[in-house]
Amino acid sequence: MPFLHASSTISFLFSLLLSLSFTTTYATGNFYQNFDITWGDGRANILDNGQLLTLSLDKASGSGFQSKNEYLFGNIDMQLKLVPGNSAGTVTAYYLSSKGSNWDEVDFEFLGNVSGQPYILRTNVFGQGKGNREQQFYLWFDPTADFHTYSILWNPQRIIFSVDGTPIREFKNMESKGVAFPNNQPMRLYSSLWNADDWATRGGLVKTDWNQAPFIASYRNFNADASSSNAWYSQQLDSTSQQRLSWVQNNYMIYNYCNDTKRFPQGLPTECNAS
Ligand SMILES: *[C@@H]1O[C@H](CO)[C@@H](O)[C@H](O)[C@H]1NC(C)=O
Ligand SMILES: *[C@@H]1O[C@H](CO)[C@@H](O)[C@H](O)[C@H]1NC(C)=O
Repeated sequence: MPFLHASSTISFLFSLLLSLSFTTTYATGNFYQNFDITWGDGRANILDNGQLLTLSLDKASGSGFQSKNEYLFGNIDMQLKLVPGNSAGTVTAYYLSSKGSNWDEVDFEFLGNVSGQPYILRTNVFGQGKGNREQQFYLWFDPTADFHTYSILWNPQRIIFSVDGTPIREFKNMESKGVAFPNNQPMRLYSSLWNADDWATRGGLVKTDWNQAPFIASYRNFNADASSSNAWYSQQLDSTSQQRLSWVQNNYMIYNYCNDTKRFPQGLPTECNAS
């Protein structure tokens, strides 16, 4: 009997190990398995057997969740459907972040607007606690009408932000030029919906209309590939992707920190001039 007991314990440990190594290199689908709701006192909900997650915001509080896993490089997709109607003043954030005072961070932030006016997608990259690298975009579709895929490809050479497979921003590893690049601190995936009507919509001019609450954003089809033996680990933009990136930058980019000479009177950040 003790032998049987030991062998079943061993096989249990073995399958546990297998499932652990599986989930840390490739996580897909189920929100119960992959995320913890971290705040919002019942305002964040996992529905449809773990296939759907909703965040909500009202006058008393927003809400948020975070991934159970940490990633050191990864190819991460999530589908989001943003707060519809009058979403002015709200911000839906979806980002990777490490901990500590020299943290790394890769951000998508969606700034709401009054009905019929465009959301702004704001991106940023922090290396060793230093950010100030905002690029902002309008989208070429209504992000509240349906789910769209927002992706972060983070490998040792570059970070690529994509929307429905179209790259909108590339942040290259320029450590050799002295620019910190996130490559040694594991990051967790976070998302939250909160009120930011002091700055979000037209620079804070338009306030949140609480008569519209609760505001709700929805998430589905999370996918994270963290296996370094897959193609994304060395992926770069091919010429077609490069053209798509230029198309977005020429037609939808509304702010680029690398263009803001007033903000950086001592000279633009190093990565803006290096290529
Ligand atoms: C909201 O709409 C106004 C007017 O079209 C526009 O200037 C602004 O960039 C839009 N987005 C945000 C988040 O303010
Ligand atoms: C970059 O700067 C030029 C000149 O100030 C301006 O016309 C253009 O709109 C800016 N582009 C972006 C994306 O900020």
